[in-house]
Amino acid sequence: MQLIRVSSYEELSRKAADIISAQVILKPGCVLGLATGSTPVGTYRQLIERFRRGDLDFSRVTAFNLDEYLGISPEHPQSYHAFMQEQLFRHINICPRRCHVPEGCAEDPRAFARAYDQAIAEHGGIDLQLLGIGNNGHIGFNEPSGVFYKGTHVVDLTDSTIDANKRFFANREDVPKQAITLGTSGIMHAKKVILLAFGKGKAEAVRAMVTGEIDPKCPASILQLHDDVTLLLDKEAAALL
Ligand code: GLP
Repeated sequence: MQLIRVSSYEELSRKAADIISAQVILKPGCVLGLATGSTPVGTYRQLIERFRRGDLDFSRVTAFNLDEYLGISPEHPQSYHAFMQEQLFRHINICPRRCHVPEGCAEDPRAFARAYDQAIAEHGGIDLQLLGIGNNGHIGFNEPSGVFYKGTHVVDLTDSTIDANKRFFANREDVPKQAITLGTSGIMHAKKVILLAFGKGKAEAVRAMVTGEIDPKCPASILQLHDDVTLLLDKEAAALL
């Protein structure tokens, strides 16, 4: 794992955008794996600015998002569909039909999950996967459990994730209890991974990811087995390393 320490959220966002920009410039028809959460918002802002300056062209890029809450429609303001539209997609020249976000309202979520993995494979896999990390070590919505789930799958959200994400909803009760997420193998098959972690709330998860056992109790620890992972960490997130 390559570790890049940054001194501010601004620097984290700029460096992450540098890596994504390099990917898009080197391979204009690349496949990006994208993430939600508050951490990548600054990165997306940077990418939008670079697009507006004429430095980036997303017209041939394909995007696959990591996850979506189960049971909420793409129009729901807290859906990850809406998040991606608002934070990135509608501001750049990416083709809407090349923007893939798992379907939270699929009639048969398990069949949808298989089709999602197949679509990624048909596109030749993910060139660059952007990740955040949950306070409990989750990546995407791969929650701590007894096993690493390989494919895209439906997951019960843990209480700690529901607590962490309730800030985006009016009440805790409104946070969906389940989600659909890309599995471990989807993430591990990405050719390159960058993971962003900011703030002291992520320090323990970062420690377990980098120096702990490879254990599904910290899903991010599987990244120790990937040979091209770059971690962008501020001082507080890296405090226990
Ligand atoms: C959500 C997402 C993850 C994200 C995590 C951390 O649960 N499913 O992909 O990494 O939150 O979010 P934040 O960046 O807001 O801390």
